[in-house]
Amino acid sequence: MHFNFDTLIDRANSDSQKWRKYTGKDILPLWVADMDFAAPPAVIEALQQRVAHGVFGYAKPLPPLNEAVVDYCARHYGWQIDASWIVWLPGLVVGLNAAAAAIGEAGDEVLTCTPVYPPFMSAAVNQRRRSVTVPLALRGARWEIDFDALERAVTPRTRALFFCSPHNPVARAFSRAELEQVAAFCERHNLTLVSDEIHCDLVLDEVPHVPTAALGSDISRRTITLMAPSKTYNIAGLGCSFAVISDAKLRLAFTRATQGIVPDVNVLALVACEAALRHGEPWRQELLTYLRGNRNLIESTIARGELPGVTTTHVEATYLAWLNIEQLGLADAARFFESHGLGFSDGAPFGAAQDTYLRFNFGCRRELVVEALARFKRALAAR
Ligand SMILES: Cc1ncc(COP(=O)(O)O)c(C=O)c1O
Repeated sequence: MHFNFDTLIDRANSDSQKWRKYTGKDILPLWVADMDFAAPPAVIEALQQRVAHGVFGYAKPLPPLNEAVVDYCARHYGWQIDASWIVWLPGLVVGLNAAAAAIGEAGDEVLTCTPVYPPFMSAAVNQRRRSVTVPLALRGARWEIDFDALERAVTPRTRALFFCSPHNPVARAFSRAELEQVAAFCERHNLTLVSDEIHCDLVLDEVPHVPTAALGSDISRRTITLMAPSKTYNIAGLGCSFAVISDAKLRLAFTRATQGIVPDVNVLALVACEAALRHGEPWRQELLTYLRGNRNLIESTIARGELPGVTTTHVEATYLAWLNIEQLGLADAARFFESHGLGFSDGAPFGAAQDTYLRFNFGCRRELVVEALARFKRALAAR
């Protein structure tokens, strides 16, 4: 290993949202989706060089940055995009909101499969659309898209499907066959697909990520793909993301929805993004190895029955495990675990029933995962 993911970096005394939530309390922060690791050295060096320049006036993404995105998509996913399809954004929640505002009109319906990252639902509501949720189906040991339920949910006002691929929080990396069904569904009902692929470079299993828009020209022209280096290279606080929209009319509607509201991407974010895309791959490969280790530790602990009453499905992608805690029968599960030193995300805002699921962010040092599992066992024994 060239990169050391076990290094302790003090975030408790930094500006970290994740760590600040529990300042002064002995609670491990295992909630908001960023990692405790330093960004790749190549990104830090590029930022240092840019800071040394000393002038931070208005910036714009230059052709080499767009080329870095085009090259990255071709190299990583075999997806041929054109630089003109890229719309730069200071965040992907912004992208979800701009997409909701760009599609249809007030009162129209936006489908999404739950549980899901909460802004998939709130973006529609913010933009005066109706969010229509369709539960994912837990079939055997795997979360799947319930296409029959999706079909039943379509009405004459349905305009879009907000889709998370890979999926936060159920950690699925959908297969090509499943994505083809998603594309066919959108085509059949003339829907715009908003495909948030922010976790696409965090696939832990040996399967390639397939951008849904790469499946063919029909699905491409009706898709807004949302991507960012922020999760993978741990630079979410810099705010650098982009949409890829091949259809000129859809792209115009999307950019119009951002006008006068959404600021330009900041100077440092652009620099970090280009460095990550061009030089981050050796670091990313080692990160994936490390995250697989954390994931395996959690999954094997649960599989051995060491957390009685807790189950999980296999984490195919992301650094988030979606834990079923229903059998524990807790009232205010998130509070219960905090009282035992564990700060998980509560499942309810993702659309899960109260006290049935928790999300465990394992994008942290192995030592912390080991400590979290030990506290988890003690919490269950103390009930
Ligand atoms: C699926 C998904 N989309 C978007 C975001 C947030 O993106 P941003 O911080 O760029 O707004 C997250 C963060 O957890 C996420 O999981």
